[in-house]
Amino acid sequence: MTMRIAVLVSGRGSNLQALLDAIADATLKARIVGVFSDRPEATALQRVAPALRWSETARTFPDRLAFDHALAEAVAACDPDWVVCAGYMRILGDTFIARFRGRVLNIHPSLLPKYRGLRTHARALEAGDSEHGASIHFVVPELDAGAVIAQAGMHVLPGDDPQTLAQRLLPLEHRLLVAVLRLAAAGRLAERNGMAYCDAQPLFTPLRLDSAVGLMLPDTATPP
Ligand code: GRF
Repeated sequence: MTMRIAVLVSGRGSNLQALLDAIADATLKARIVGVFSDRPEATALQRVAPALRWSETARTFPDRLAFDHALAEAVAACDPDWVVCAGYMRILGDTFIARFRGRVLNIHPSLLPKYRGLRTHARALEAGDSEHGASIHFVVPELDAGAVIAQAGMHVLPGDDPQTLAQRLLPLEHRLLVAVLRLAAAGRLAERNGMAYCDAQPLFTPLRLDSAVGLMLPDTATPP
């Protein structure tokens, strides 16, 4: 069965494009069933056919709950297997998360648990980190706090600034996202009681993306 993915976006949509490309070249057996945005002007929306687009501005709703409800209804109408936040800049409400719990993923540009929230590249530089990266995690009500499935790391180089870090990280994010969605498509990912599982094994440490091998699978996932 082809996995059905709903993608939530707020901006440029390069991660969405990575999924579309992987689907087009058949490296990812999936279908994008809807792209949802809190910003009608988001470039990401233009990457799919008009029939797949949904966008509303939150301020046209009476409150945050009403927006979340409308979003959840629209997403549910597409009957997705997975919901992927790919550069979605609004915090998802509890009711949205409860409705799709265990099936909502987010890509975050830091090696979580470091640097939840914004300005991740600048904060890694300010801390003098020698390594930086991106994480894919299950979404829970607390911001960027859900179980981490996989990470891609890279060295911070002398002279790096937030822009160079972001630029070097982006292709890794794309590879990481496609690799994790491939696992999801194969039915190999799950979340239970706040823990991520791959092949029914708990991930005590996130899977790592290796530049040569791709995603390193769970034989390395042993208890701490
Ligand atoms: C990415 O860096 C992602 O990690 C972050 O927002 C950015 C979105 O980029 N959450 P794009 O819209 O997918 O190009």
